[in-house]
Amino acid sequence: MNVNSLFQPFSLKSLHLKNRIVMAPMTRSFSPNGIPGDNVAAYYQRRAAGEVGLILSEGTVIDRPSSSYDPNIPHFYGEQALKGWEKTINDVHAAGGSMGPQIWHQGIMGKYHTGWLPPAPFEGPSGILKPGETNGKAMTDADIADVIAAFGKAAADAKRLGFDCVELHGAHGYLIDQFFYEVTNARTDKYNGKTVAERSLFATEVIKEVRRQVGEDFAIIIRLSQWKPLDYTHKMAKTPEEMGAWLNLLADAGIDIFHCSQRRFWEPEFEGSDLNFAGWAKKLTGKPTITVGSVGLSGDFLSAFAGESSEPSSLDELLRRYDRGDFDLVAVGRPILADPEWVKKIKNGRTSELKGFSKEALAQLL
Ligand SMILES: Cc1cc2nc3c(=O)[nH]c(=O)nc-3n(C[C@H](O)[C@H](O)[C@H](O)COP(=O)(O)O)c2cc1C
Repeated sequence: MNVNSLFQPFSLKSLHLKNRIVMAPMTRSFSPNGIPGDNVAAYYQRRAAGEVGLILSEGTVIDRPSSSYDPNIPHFYGEQALKGWEKTINDVHAAGGSMGPQIWHQGIMGKYHTGWLPPAPFEGPSGILKPGETNGKAMTDADIADVIAAFGKAAADAKRLGFDCVELHGAHGYLIDQFFYEVTNARTDKYNGKTVAERSLFATEVIKEVRRQVGEDFAIIIRLSQWKPLDYTHKMAKTPEEMGAWLNLLADAGIDIFHCSQRRFWEPEFEGSDLNFAGWAKKLTGKPTITVGSVGLSGDFLSAFAGESSEPSSLDELLRRYDRGDFDLVAVGRPILADPEWVKKIKNGRTSELKGFSKEALAQLL
């Protein structure tokens, strides 16, 4: 397989990447009391030394009392946490890498396995955890304004600390996605509507504030998923027209790059075409896109949480789509979590050294 096309540079605004491979954001919960330590900085620096083009951090939460349900998820606020992130980006740059934090608010959550709870009730569009079950409060207009300001502050801090871009976590059933998703958004105000485009006001307000804080030249990525933890086959946008209306609102608000989360990148988004989510997002908005989902592995990431192992698999289908121009960047999760040298091995054809993925890799910062 000829992977040369993945090793072409990519530039957009503040982003100047040496290749097209992105480390997908992956929560590691190795930051006690929300403070990323030297071990976290070293973990990301190893990926930079391993020639990952763009490192996206694990989800790191904004300054709201209940933005996280796990005390070991890193904060992106407070002097100590930001010092840890400053060391991280300096170490990543020293190793020749580029990085952006994934800025996150988890919204309405269930109970963390240790029983730990944040100091305030969870907050979300309607307090809905799943159909028939609430856990937390519906955000007031004042809460919404404060959350938007906290997203903006985090993005401004990302730029000030020297990060190359910022990614907003708008996927996987967390706060921004809870507004997009008709099951968790039961509001009766302007933040709700019949279509996903009509439920995008909260997201566009967040994006506009982030843009205002970072200026025109700083790249803003948003991660989106049609799938939900409550329903892996869900489609909020059921047609290309609905998807175009949704994504173009986000682009107009200030998004530069769409990070289109799928469990398996080769699955078509709509009938009648083999284009995947990233392929459609690029076609409908003209913006660069990132694809993700089981690149180089035989099983998807949810099977990994269930304890199943995955074996290395061919990149041929990925390359076919990439070379056709479907997307600009390729995010890789578990392979890079388990092996900081994964990108170098792909680049240099060291395929016999590629490892599979088993969930033991989650237990430490390799
Ligand atoms: C341990 C782990 C933690 C994850 N945490 C996040 C996260 O914080 N934010 C996010 O957007 N996705 C998260 N994901 C999803 C990954 O970014 C990625 O989309 C998924 O693993 C599919 O890519 P892969 O098949 O290459 O692993 C996580 C996945 C794993 C395995």
